[in-house]
Amino acid sequence: MMTNIRAATKKIGIVGFGCIGSYLCYLLDDKQTKVFVRRTASPIKPTLSVDGERKALKTQRCYFSEKSLHALDLLIVPVKSYQNAELIKQLRPILPQSIPILILQNGISGIEEFRQAFPYNEIFAGISTDGLYRQSIDSVVLAGRGKLLIGQIQDKKQSCKGLASAKKLMSRHPHGEWSDNIKEQIYQKLLVNCVINPLTFLYDCKNGEVVKYTNECEEIINEVLGVFAHERVHISPDSALTRVLEVIRATAKNTSSMLQDKLGEKPTEIDAILGAIIQKANHYQCPVKKVEQLYQAVKQQEQRYLNTANR
Ligand code: PAF
Repeated sequence: MMTNIRAATKKIGIVGFGCIGSYLCYLLDDKQTKVFVRRTASPIKPTLSVDGERKALKTQRCYFSEKSLHALDLLIVPVKSYQNAELIKQLRPILPQSIPILILQNGISGIEEFRQAFPYNEIFAGISTDGLYRQSIDSVVLAGRGKLLIGQIQDKKQSCKGLASAKKLMSRHPHGEWSDNIKEQIYQKLLVNCVINPLTFLYDCKNGEVVKYTNECEEIINEVLGVFAHERVHISPDSALTRVLEVIRATAKNTSSMLQDKLGEKPTEIDAILGAIIQKANHYQCPVKKVEQLYQAVKQQEQRYLNTANR
């Protein structure tokens, strides 16, 4: 009970009104929460649609500054992985070592980038399986309720403020849970993303249709598990396939985030997903032919539409 009272007063910062950021902002909805944006006076009024009802996101907006960051008990980073480098450049000179960071994004490269850039900050990582998509510049839709898992990445002792803030967030999410093995769960999610995201992108299909490509799914799974084994994450091919098929079924009607990026002519997270696997495979010298082939195919198409969109 004591922890809940303290957790309720925790000051949480969220980077941007992306899909996950907007949903967390809606869940937290209190004066203690700040959303960090580029333009505080922007005329755009972000909203979130839940069960057909469009709700304005009222949370306080602010810029990054030493003062605004210093007041925080937790900084949540729910941005796309390709935005990390720019964000780290901005934060490195001003983020105090005492502020815990929670990384909520696809892939594993973000966790490594933030650990390297902020070696003294406490790092949490999480997985969100909520079905969210952007409908327009000012509106995000919650299409399906999922889970929010949070855990600590380092073996360091958890600080009170980091833990209490994570608890506050979990208590506001309808299915928020603490995880003692978040690293393994992030790898499991990465495996799912390695299969569903590039296949839906390349075949222009909803998640459910990926069942038609079971042979390709198995090829990807076997290569990715070979890399995971070097990282001491052991998952059997059978249970991996079962898990991937479960997610395909549960999200059958969804448009994957990578296909959403393609439809919106935006950069994808392919580098943080298959790119991260290739990087590790090179390091451990293990073959990942299928993964490389899919990576190149996605990159080529992505480059083509990005070039056209920028013309
Ligand atoms: O990136 C995504 O779209 C999601 O993580 C997933 C699980 C593939 C469902 O669409």
